[in-house]
Order: sequence, then C-alpha cells, then structure tokens
Amino acid sequence: MARPQRHRLLHGYPLAAAMPFADADVRRMAATFDSQFEPPRNPRNPLLVGVLPHPFCNPRISGCGFCTFPHETYSALKAAATSSAVSLEIEQRIANQPDLDRAQVSGLYFGGGTANLTPANTFRLLARRLNSSFDLQQAEVSLEGVARNFVRGNPSLLDIMTEEIQARHFRISMGIQTFSESRLEQMGRLAFGRADTFAEAVEAAHVRNMTASGDLLCNLPGQSLEEMKKDIRQAIDIGLDQICVYHLVMFPGLGTEWARDPAMVKLLPANEEASSNWNELRTMLLESGFRQTSLTNFERAELAFDPRRYRYEPISYESNHCQVVGFGPSGISFTPTDNGQYALKTMNPESSSEYMQAVHSQGPVWNRYFRYDRLDFELLLITRRLASLRFDNDAHRMIAESEASQSYAERLELLVAENLLERNSVESWLTPKGMFYSDSIAGLLAEARWEHGSKHSRPFMSNDNRSGHM
Ligand SMILES: C[S@@+](CC[C@H](N)C(=O)[O-])C[C@H]1O[C@@H](n2cnc3c(N)ncnc32)[C@H](O)[C@@H]1O
Ligand code: SF4
Repeated sequence: MARPQRHRLLHGYPLAAAMPFADADVRRMAATFDSQFEPPRNPRNPLLVGVLPHPFCNPRISGCGFCTFPHETYSALKAAATSSAVSLEIEQRIANQPDLDRAQVSGLYFGGGTANLTPANTFRLLARRLNSSFDLQQAEVSLEGVARNFVRGNPSLLDIMTEEIQARHFRISMGIQTFSESRLEQMGRLAFGRADTFAEAVEAAHVRNMTASGDLLCNLPGQSLEEMKKDIRQAIDIGLDQICVYHLVMFPGLGTEWARDPAMVKLLPANEEASSNWNELRTMLLESGFRQTSLTNFERAELAFDPRRYRYEPISYESNHCQVVGFGPSGISFTPTDNGQYALKTMNPESSSEYMQAVHSQGPVWNRYFRYDRLDFELLLITRRLASLRFDNDAHRMIAESEASQSYAERLELLVAENLLERNSVESWLTPKGMFYSDSIAGLLAEARWEHGSKHSRPFMSNDNRSGHM
C-alpha cells in the first residue's frame, strides 16, 4: 500500500502486457482451430465484442503526458488502412469459427483509444461488416473518443453508427480528463475540446437518444481537492449519464512523458492524501444522485432499472461464462469452458504495422496467449468480481471450494483487518479505502494463486509493464 496504485483490478488476471508471446508450435496448433486449444463456444453464454479500429491519436504532447494505453501518431491513411484490416480480420475469423456467425451479442465496444478518429468511410464499412457478421439487435453499442470528433464531421460517426448498425442502444464514451484549460494545455489536449465542446458532445448524444459517459482524472500533479471537485461539478452539470473517475497512475519508470519529469512527480500527492481525495469525490458523486457501479464508474441513479444503463462492463465482471471477442490492434479475446476448468485468453499485436502484417498472413492474428488452468480461472473470476465492488454468496462459495481456499481466507482476513473489506455472513464488499487500494488487493490475491504452485512465472500481476493498461 506504500507503492503507487494502478487500476490492475479493472484489467483482470493476467494483465495484457504480462501475457507471454506464442511460439511457432502454439501458433501452428491454433491455426487449425483445434477445440483442444480453443474451447468451443456455448451460444447461451453472453458474448461481448471489442473493436479497436486503430491505435492512432494526435495530442500536442506525446501520450497527453499521462497515457498508458497504446497510441501511435495519427495519419489518416494509416488509420484507414488499419480499420480496413480490422474488417478483414472479422471476415476471416467468422469464416474460421462458424459458431460466431450471426451470434447474438450483448455488447459491442468501439474503443482502444480514439476510435472516433476513424475516417468516416472506413468506419461505415467496419460498422456494416459487424452488423452483417453478428446479431446486434439486443446489443448495447459504445463509441469511445474525444469530444471534438463527436461534434464534428459530416457525416457524423454517430449517425453512421446508427445508420449501419441495428442495435438496442447506443452510447458515447468521451475522454474529458479535466475542465481546466491550463491543464488541458499541459496535456496538449486543447484541440480535443473545452468545457463547451464537452457539453455539445453530451447534447449530440442525447438528441440521438444515446447515453453519454465521460472520463475524469484526479490526483493530477499539484491538483488541489477544490480543483478536482470543480471538475466533478462541471461533469455533473453538463448532463453526463455516467462519470468515470480515475486516480492518475504515474510513477518514475512508468514510461509516460510526465513520469519522466522529476518536477512533475514531486507534485503528486502521497497515497494517503490521494486516497482521501478519491473518497471525497466519491461521496460528492453519491450525494449528487449517482450510483457507484464499479471501482471507477458512477452512473445516474435513475438509470439503475433502465435498459439503457451501462451493461458492457458489468456483464464482463459478473458472468463466469462471458465470452469476449476482440478485433484490431491489441484486441483481446477470452473463451471459457462451461465447466470452469479451463479458459483461453489471446491478444493481438499492439502496433498497427505488426497487426496488419498478421491479418494478411496465414494463421491466427494474435501473438500472445494465456491458458488458464482451474486456479488461474478462479483468480480471474475473483479479481473480476471484486472490480464490481463485492463478493456475493456465489463468489464466497467459489473461494471456499477452491484448492487455494486457505490462502484466500487468510488474505480476506487481512483485508478486513486493514479496513479494506467489510463483510457479513453472506457478502463482502470493498470499503472506500479498499477501492483506492484495489491495486494492492489485486497483487495480494494474485500472490495466493502463486503460492499454490502456478506453472507460470511470477510477473503475471507485475507492476513493471509500461503500457496496455492504467
Ligand atoms: C483509452 S483512454 C482515452 C480515450 C481517448 N483517447 C481520450 O484521449 O480521451 C481511456 C481513459 O483512460 C484513462 N487513463 C489513461 N491513462 C491513464 C493513467 N495513466 N492513469 C489513470 N487513468 C488513465 C483516461 O481517463 C482516458 O480517458
Ligand atoms: S489519452 Fe487518448 S488521445 Fe491521449 S494519448 Fe491516450 S489514447 Fe491518445
């Protein structure tokens, strides 16, 4: 808890950047789509589709100073070429895995950076391809990006999305970070929009009957609690349906621009102060009519029983059998077996050029993979569940029946003693302090699995990987 806190619990086990690269034998086995290797899909399990059309963005400061997600310098030509390759990847994958053809999808997410910076024509073709490949009628569809691109563009990507995709509900997810113009300038993000652009983007979503989510950062270098509260107040006032608050992940060695600057690092609050700030912002949101739905997400309480509430993340946290299919650079796929004994996670190459090469080659596009055995799979489910803030009765039963139950029990005791977790006879839930220190909790639980003789080397929940997650 003395070390920098990240958002590892949100990302699940193992972290993307800690996944091993596949060797030639593994790739050969996977190329045959052998069911011994990739578990067959059960059509009853919820299916999520993540699409990363390209990794490009264009802030004036490299990586906006703080960003830990994969990003490359924008070029319209390269973005168009990459998104066309994504359409091809979808076509190839469906041809090789016919059980995905027209499969019913619960959530579709265009994300992975600045998805709304995709050139309009290629975005239309990509949307059309997805609509003809999957059954999206019951799906929630999200488009991620920066404010300016939600309010500009003729035609608007928002209209293209609704013209091309028959889905139940659409939403936007916008990176705001802060309303302070001097801080936006420090991030090189002024051209992405200011307070009025953020409000216009919410309006652009609402007039189309879409919901709107916005990301805010807190605990920025030298940022006072008053400044943070002002950001939250403005985010509420522009009518966002959902507000995500991320404690800034930054420490020497992280590899971001700001993390390389000792003067900036010096201005970061210590963990205790950062935790107390987070707690104040959380309370402010709860008192302003928001409901906390995960470690970082707050949603307007009136949406709690509305079919338009945000579903993608809760489905991935709560279902033991949720399948994820990811397309594009860094795309992640996850297939569990029904009996919970085994699962496979794969990840596509991160860089656009490697990704395009892989799509145009024979064999699987992914180059990293992780095969979960039963204990790994349990750890994944435990960490995912905790990201939704609580262990219900089912999660407790799974822990009690685990081969590693003694190790988990000792650690849960410790979390209660440290006031990170509270419990009654049927449930446990994270305290606000536990929410801030969720990263330490993730590390501690991963240690329990490691104690039980993992066949994998230790760094699967490591803190030293530089990109791919916060
Ligand atoms: C894929 S990113 C960015 C979306 C979009 N490209 C943008 O710039 O607005 C999603 C979110 O992760 C958060 N994020 C990125 N780097 C972070 C860091 N180092 N610490 C905490 N949150 C971070 C930001 O709030 C960001 O909006
Ligand atoms: S925060 Fe968004 S715009 Fe900035 S570098 Fe990351 S992905 Fe690109």
